[in-house]
Amino acid sequence: AGPDRPLIGTAAWGQRDLIDYDRKNPTTYQQLIGAQFDSITPENDMKWAEIHPEEGVYDFSGADAVMEFAKRNGQQVRGHTLLWHSQNPAWVTEASATWTCDEARAVLKDHITTVVGRYKNKIYEWDVANEIYQDTWDVGGVRLRTNSNPFLKACADDPEALIGDAFRWAHKADPKARLFLNDYNAEGINEKTDAYYGLAKRLLADGVPLHGFGAQAHLSLQYDYDNGLEANLERFADLGLKVAITEADVRIPEVEGREPTDEEVAEHTNRHVKLLKACLDNEACTSFTVWGFNDAYSWVPQTFAREGWATLMTADGQLKPAFHAMVDTL
Ligand code: XIL
Repeated sequence: AGPDRPLIGTAAWGQRDLIDYDRKNPTTYQQLIGAQFDSITPENDMKWAEIHPEEGVYDFSGADAVMEFAKRNGQQVRGHTLLWHSQNPAWVTEASATWTCDEARAVLKDHITTVVGRYKNKIYEWDVANEIYQDTWDVGGVRLRTNSNPFLKACADDPEALIGDAFRWAHKADPKARLFLNDYNAEGINEKTDAYYGLAKRLLADGVPLHGFGAQAHLSLQYDYDNGLEANLERFADLGLKVAITEADVRIPEVEGREPTDEEVAEHTNRHVKLLKACLDNEACTSFTVWGFNDAYSWVPQTFAREGWATLMTADGQLKPAFHAMVDTL
């Protein structure tokens, strides 16, 4: 646990968890988030739908709550996210039906300039582009989400030019923030990470201010652990990029309505420690973030049928073996 170790973070939702933060009387959950982590990622507050709900209307209340909470607790903030196919406001979805690429570019540039600019010098890393590659099994081969991402769709003739410019606009608005690509199923070496590796090389060759690659690390015990994580992080680091684990959680299938078995708990612990070690063992790894810190607030049960127990704390507030094992690993 030297001074150069990666920042250890959690996602937290300002609008829900922090906006009523009372410094003199924080909830136990707020105290733990404030005390146990170096870094906070706003779980939803900086997404388009929350921060830019209407055309020309920005709502910074949730994001500001995260910033203030982090400041009071001496924490850093990881920005998330600027270009994504999901959680876009209705006005974007509607307007994008008729966007030309130039119109899409103007909307994205205004958004990035405004949001990144507002938090200039206060955010150490930004997930500029999130989940921009389509899963191979959906379309029979990995490709950019030119069908579901409204910006990439409008600029489908040359989506990489738009991606590069998104990084340029972000860099101009905050030259000190490290700018990341970020995705799920991006831990090991696979078709998706091969695509990112190629994209990263092309962007860097074009002089795009791309600084890092983030593997979300949403794992499920129903799939084997991918031991290619270290090698994958290493190849991005070899390009001169930073790397990060950005959204770690380890969900257990069919756990709804029962307690996990001892074996499942052991594997939940084991995988958290392996993910953390992969980051600690790579000098280019700048941050390790878990996606929420309590099962009661985890996105998992709402997203994956009957899966759960994914975070480091039970719904009734008990720190799990994985939490203690990770602390011991630092
Ligand atoms: C999730 C949030 O945790 C939920 O609260 C929200 O309803 C949906 O989004 N990949 C990402 C995150 O990059 O932004 C997602 O967060 C989880 C998957």
